Amino acid sequence: MQERNETRVLPADKDGVASAAELLQNGQLVAFPTETVYGLGADARDGEAVARIFEAKARPSFNPLIVHVSSLDAALALVDLPDLLLVLAKTFWPGPLTLVAPAKPGTGLSELVSAGLPTVAIRLPQHPLAISLLEAFGGPVAAPSANPSGRISPTTAAHVLDGLDGRIAAVVDGGPCAVGLESTIVGVAGDRPVLMRPGGLPVSAIEAAVGVELQAAQKDLVEAPGQLLSHYAPSAALRLDANAPRSDEAFLGFGQADFPNCLNLSRSSDLTEAAANLFSHLRALDELVHAESLSGIAAASIPETGLGLAINDRLKRAAVPR
Ligand code: TXA
Ligand code: MG
Repeated sequence: MQERNETRVLPADKDGVASAAELLQNGQLVAFPTETVYGLGADARDGEAVARIFEAKARPSFNPLIVHVSSLDAALALVDLPDLLLVLAKTFWPGPLTLVAPAKPGTGLSELVSAGLPTVAIRLPQHPLAISLLEAFGGPVAAPSANPSGRISPTTAAHVLDGLDGRIAAVVDGGPCAVGLESTIVGVAGDRPVLMRPGGLPVSAIEAAVGVELQAAQKDLVEAPGQLLSHYAPSAALRLDANAPRSDEAFLGFGQADFPNCLNLSRSSDLTEAAANLFSHLRALDELVHAESLSGIAAASIPETGLGLAINDRLKRAAVPR
């Protein structure tokens, strides 16, 4: 569990932004205003920092987060934007629009950011403080809305403190958010644009820009028990709560355990470290099972506390026979 420390309220000026950027560089969590809602930011390349987002929000599951950047070029360094989405980026960025596109390889983004999906949700916000912070920090920032899981999104610094005081390093106080609704999320399926979440940018404006209708909004495409979920899971069979692997299994370890074909989530039984490693280890073990013709992956049991809840949620889903 993250210990409770005082949350600093940083002013909306150069010093406040510099302090916020430094905290982000140190792997800490900083809430900041965007034109939509306040985001809870962490270095998107630092898996443990990203894991702390889920811990601070007390989210019982890992959902993919939006990556915030300060320029179109910064976005293009991280994702391959299909033409359709590039048009939208050029028309509406900076602004309340998030684009979901295939991740480029080797960008250093933590796999926890996209919860193991091959795509990344990316956005260039319009708020001057958000842009200053992203520029001062100099890298991509993962940021869901800055509220505890299950509560409504904050549109003032006071709302942020209401829910997260003592659980995050700082909040930059930029006053109320102008839009007050989360960004609209658009992806593509084949050559059609898909509305993944309605939000602050009207669908009609998006359709006018691309000249085609958005595919019908699907309620929570990502978390619905459907096709997308399968991207989260390894293709190898997964056996949970194992003390040790059988001779023909790979092993996902936690704590002191050493076996052949083993990757350890955290030797020191640190749940934050374990969360940061979860998706990349699952992926690597999946590849190992196929390369070595093993029968599957056995996973050590993970305590049901703090981030362990979200780790176990993900492991249970991955273990469902398909
Ligand atoms: O306005 C906003 O978008 C705010 C501010 C802070 O920027 N951020 C925000 O982030 O609402 P968040 O993390 O609450 O939204 C994440 C949602 C997920 O629940 C999912 O619907 C979608 O973004 N998402 C993220 N990555 C995705 C992906 N790879 N594929 C599909 N959907 C994705
Ligand atoms: Mg939210």
